[in-house]
Amino acid sequence: MNPASPLPCQRDLFDIPREVCFLNAGSWSPLPKSAAEVCNQGFARKSRPWEMSANLQNEQCTAARETAARIINADTNDVAIIPSVGYGVATAAKAMNLPENSRVIVLEDDHSSPVLEWSSNPDNMMSVRTVSVGSDGNWTAALLAAIQEESANDLALVSVSNVHWADGGLVDIQAVRAALTRSGAMLVIDATHAVGVIDMDVTQLDPDFMIFPTYKWLLGPYGRAFLYVAKRHQNSLPLEQTMSGRQRVRAEDPVYFTDLTYLPDARRFDMGQRDFFISLDLAQHGMELMANWGHAAVSARLSGLTSRIADGLKDAALPVSVPDKTVRAPHILCVSFPTGMPDALPAALKARNVYVAPRLGRLRITPHVYNDEADCDHFVSALRDALHETCAT
Ligand SMILES: Cc1ncc(COP(=O)(O)O)c(C=O)c1O
Repeated sequence: MNPASPLPCQRDLFDIPREVCFLNAGSWSPLPKSAAEVCNQGFARKSRPWEMSANLQNEQCTAARETAARIINADTNDVAIIPSVGYGVATAAKAMNLPENSRVIVLEDDHSSPVLEWSSNPDNMMSVRTVSVGSDGNWTAALLAAIQEESANDLALVSVSNVHWADGGLVDIQAVRAALTRSGAMLVIDATHAVGVIDMDVTQLDPDFMIFPTYKWLLGPYGRAFLYVAKRHQNSLPLEQTMSGRQRVRAEDPVYFTDLTYLPDARRFDMGQRDFFISLDLAQHGMELMANWGHAAVSARLSGLTSRIADGLKDAALPVSVPDKTVRAPHILCVSFPTGMPDALPAALKARNVYVAPRLGRLRITPHVYNDEADCDHFVSALRDALHETCAT
């Protein structure tokens, strides 16, 4: 899609009843209706395995890898097929092999996956600095200040999400990259809430490792994620020792371990059992839709929706606040409650057909391409009524 042309609402591609206001892509997105055919095709193949062509699995892995690489502007073989973000971070940890007690920066309350590897893995204990955000909600400023301070302490690594899952804060990861290039530290990006919506061009960002799953913003299934590995780390040891990661270990050959040399690129980091082709095809299908729309069009569309909600909350004079547009991601709006979120609020919203996520005391609103302006207005009026109900009881 031409990035200049606005993306219309894509609700027709999904099975979402008009009365359902699903604003929770940040937790998990619905599969598009067209995924049913993809799924059925995979089901049919696994039901009659004798009809599968010998090369099918390789072709599917290559196709999924190509699409994942396209979304982040990577070379195809710089991307590994993995099951989860945590797996990707563990792979990065093994590959970097940092000495114990190396200095690592993480973000406060960042998701467990880019954090716990460094702070609670007994085999890989690091000296972790946790960066807090100021009252202005500006994660970029807080992180850059910490990098500057830590540069004097031999900073080894920054391991962060570039969109904070719990408050929707956006990290200017390009500015972080520039600061790290000066300090010499490495960069692991958990791009869970970014790829597909925000420009994550690895030729510009040059992360050491970057990881993204498909089940949220990329309209795919659980258990499918991708790991970008910079070429400078592609000689490292993978997390698992697999057949597919080696030059020639084939069950059909007369000699099994024919050539144990690792593949020369990120394919050596592929997970075992990567050939679960039903979910691989689903992942590719979702990524293709997103890649064809393009992050610029998706981001513009979703930013319009979150702004409409923010404006609606203001116009309705509800006793809530949202982060300033300059520090939040375009597609995530986290609503704070100065006197605390009523415990019963999520259920009261659900009773009004509104699906959002309570996250660390905030309400996280995450629209996707299937949402429209009517959903935004539905949310604002439901929140008004639900607050009235839950504050009164
Ligand atoms: C920022 C972030 N990273 C990672 C994950 C998922 O991690 P994993 O794939 O390791 O389960 C989530 C899920 O909510 C997330 O929000």
